[in-house]
Amino acid sequence: MTVAERRKPTPQAAAVPRHVAVIMDGNGRWARQRGLPRIKGHERGADSVRAAVRACRDAGVKYLTLYAFSVENWSRPRAEIAALMRLLRKFIRDNENELHENRIRLRLLGRVGDLPADVRGELRRVEQATAAYDAGHLILALSYGGRTEIAEAARRIAQEVRDGKLDPADVDEDAVARRLYLPDVPDPDLMIRTSGEMRLSNFLLWQLSYAELYVTAVLWPDFREPHFKAALEEYGRRQRRFGDVS
Ligand code: FPP
Repeated sequence: MTVAERRKPTPQAAAVPRHVAVIMDGNGRWARQRGLPRIKGHERGADSVRAAVRACRDAGVKYLTLYAFSVENWSRPRAEIAALMRLLRKFIRDNENELHENRIRLRLLGRVGDLPADVRGELRRVEQATAAYDAGHLILALSYGGRTEIAEAARRIAQEVRDGKLDPADVDEDAVARRLYLPDVPDPDLMIRTSGEMRLSNFLLWQLSYAELYVTAVLWPDFREPHFKAALEEYGRRQRRFGDVS
C-alpha cells in the first residue's frame, strides 16, 4: 500500500470511515465519581470495547484501533497494571468466539514483548487463530508509543542503509510507513477521544496526520453504540481536503 492509498479512503467509503482509532479515556474518573476503585472503571470500559467492535461491524468500519495500554502506562501503580493485564486476558478469552463468528482478525500494535508472558501468549494465540479473517480488524495498541514506533522505524532504516540494502535517496514517506508496526493497515480516517481531553497522548503520531478528530466529554465506560454512531454521523458531515482545496 502506498502512502496515498494508506491515507485516502476510496470515494464510496468516504461517508463511512475505513479506519477508526480511539483513545479510551476516563475509566478512572468514571470510577471515582461512583466511589469505586479505578479497576471498576476499566472493567466497565471493557464492555464499551465490545460495544465499539459491534458498532464498527454494523456500520461497516473495517479497522478499529484501540489505545489499550501506552508505553507511559507502565508508570502506573503496579496493582493497577496487574489488574489491567488480567482484564485484558479475560477480555480476549470471553470474546474469542465473537471474533470467530464475525470473522474479525485480532491484531497487536506496539511493544507486545513487554507484556507479561501469560497475557502475551493468549493474545498471540488468538492473533494467530484469527489471522485469516478479513471482515474486520480489531487492533489493540499495547505498550504502544507513537514516538517509539517512529524511532524504531528510523533505526531499521539506519541499519538497512549501513548494510547497503537501502539508498538514503530512497528514504521517503513510503519508506518510513513501510517500517511502522502494521504497514498494511490504512491510516485512521477518524480519531475519537473520550472524556474531553484535547490531546494525542503519543497515539499514532504518524498515522493520524490527516484524521478527523472527534472529542467527546462522555467517559469511556459510558461510551456505547449510540455514542459511536453519533461520532460516525459527525464524520459523515466533515469535509476532508487532505491539504487540497475543496
Ligand atoms: C484510560 O483511562 C484507559 C486506560 C489506560 C486503559 C484502557 C483499558 C480498557 C478500556 C479496559 C480493557 C481494554 C481492553 C482492550 C479489553 P484512565 O485510567 O486514564 O482514566 P482517567 O483519565 O479518568 O484516570
